[in-house]
Amino acid sequence: MQPTNKDQAGARHHPSALELNLWQSGQEPGQLIPLLQKTQEQYGYIPEHAIKTISSIARVPESEIYGVITFYKQFRLKPLGRFLIRLCDGTACHVNDAKTLMTLIKEELKLDAEDTTADGLFTLTPVACLGCCSLAQVIMINDETFGRLTPPKVRQILKEFRQRAVSPAAQGGPKV
Ligand code: FES
Repeated sequence: MQPTNKDQAGARHHPSALELNLWQSGQEPGQLIPLLQKTQEQYGYIPEHAIKTISSIARVPESEIYGVITFYKQFRLKPLGRFLIRLCDGTACHVNDAKTLMTLIKEELKLDAEDTTADGLFTLTPVACLGCCSLAQVIMINDETFGRLTPPKVRQILKEFRQRAVSPAAQGGPKV
């Protein structure tokens, strides 16, 4: 889709990188999912300003776009934390008490209804099998995997990631 005359007529309207990206993608009005996917690829989530942009480009009311975003789990309205914790809730991990581990991590990070800590450091999300069931219980933090977890081990891992966030020297990852 190309910019409309109305868009071009606004003397001070400079298309944002997102608009250009979406226009160049050639999406037709109404094809919300690809537009949202493209936006999330760019930002890591769907920011409010992008919803306004998509609304005008696709000619779909913002309320409808919010409806689509909240319907599909793949879309996020908030940025991910710096450290993404994937807690495995596959069969092997589930029987090894993934639920208790989830509760523990939520308590440690003071997460209630939100999945991301207020300081933007951690996001916690349950996932299906991470492919290393013999290590159950397993979590991944970004691209690092931690297995055979116990509550003290988990507390230590979180502590070391917090230290890593404030100390550039501590980039080697927790030694657990
Ligand atoms: S069930 Fe957790 S790694 Fe497979």
